[in-house]
Amino acid sequence: MLIVRNARVATMTGAQAATGHAPLGLIEDGAVAWEGEKIVYVGPSAGAPRADDVIDARGRLVTPGFVDPHTHLIFAGDRAGEHAQRLAGATYLEIAARGGGIRSTVEATRAASDEALLESARQRRARMLRSGVTTVEVKTGYGLSVADELRLLGIALSLDGVVPTLLGLHAVPAGMDRARWVAQVVDELTPEAARLGARGCDAFLEQGAFTAAECRAALEAGARAGLVPHLHADQLTPGGGAQLAADVGCASADHLEQTSPEGIAALARAGTTAVLLPLAAFFLRQQAAQAGPFLQAGVPVALGSNLNPGSQRIESVSMLLAAGCLLSGLTPAQALWACTAGGARALRLDDRGVLSIGNRADLVIFSTSDPDHLPYHAGVEHAEVVVSGGVVRGALGTLVGDTRD
Ligand code: NIG
Repeated sequence: MLIVRNARVATMTGAQAATGHAPLGLIEDGAVAWEGEKIVYVGPSAGAPRADDVIDARGRLVTPGFVDPHTHLIFAGDRAGEHAQRLAGATYLEIAARGGGIRSTVEATRAASDEALLESARQRRARMLRSGVTTVEVKTGYGLSVADELRLLGIALSLDGVVPTLLGLHAVPAGMDRARWVAQVVDELTPEAARLGARGCDAFLEQGAFTAAECRAALEAGARAGLVPHLHADQLTPGGGAQLAADVGCASADHLEQTSPEGIAALARAGTTAVLLPLAAFFLRQQAAQAGPFLQAGVPVALGSNLNPGSQRIESVSMLLAAGCLLSGLTPAQALWACTAGGARALRLDDRGVLSIGNRADLVIFSTSDPDHLPYHAGVEHAEVVVSGGVVRGALGTLVGDTRD
């Protein structure tokens, strides 16, 4: 058994309601112990069991490992040129209509070897783990043929701490009839991806991408195959995405920059989690979705990085927390909940995101005791020791730095 003692333990078991919230569920002078992969104790240090190995947190903050519920982690190529074009005035949809955007990454990804894709994805995953992200959802979507999508799924399945999602309806493959691609996704790709181990399915409802009817067909096929549905909804234009996500019973609706009050009410009724991606809004110089209306309607809010080569290339948890606060209006405590318990809820993973007995031993010891410090001192990573599935990764015994400096 291993134990972290003398910590400020943020269990994330508090409620995330808009009023009267205390989402951190803080235990002062707390301890977390685990045996193998599972947590066996969370509570005051004074009542903690004896353990073989003890980490003295010296008052530092301990949270659950971060759960990032929205990434496009596996890709080849670089779209810095498109970023520069946008900064010179072109829009994301204009660049996509000219054959850039998702399709340009599809070309680069198809041309890359399995080894190159795996290596770059591993490096990104390793950087995320070092900053405290113990679970990462990873979408396919840059293959766009049955064989290439399954190849990306295979790579996702070979990475640690990854929840793989099939995103067949990301863009219409170049030179292919859209109805034919939708039919292939529904009839061939989805059942095969489910058989191989995909956990979720997703679709991009947007002008220039897919219609509500096409997305519905893909998500319903996914649900029939046992996949957890998600939807890219209302990102660039209001397309009734939140209503569709609610109607299909999606675990999460993601983006939501353009969602109407009716869409928010539909999410609340369906119990769908709103995954806000404020770094993408920042990157595209858009107005970020505001958390307030979702929380006030009773919709749980999660934060995702949306790491991808086109609309969001910033890899930093502290920047995500900062964007959740500064751009989407969360408090630091709500942003931490959104990156842990919220992310797990968005993925329907009930064994993580919260520090409680029986859950996976995924946790982070930070180099500060102050949760408010994380989104405030953004741009540096504050995770000092990361425990993933009970395995300690980090400089155990070197709790000397303090990122408040
Ligand atoms: O979530 N919106 C669709 N997919 C990504 C963008 C992917 C890309 O541009 O390559 C997103 O923002």
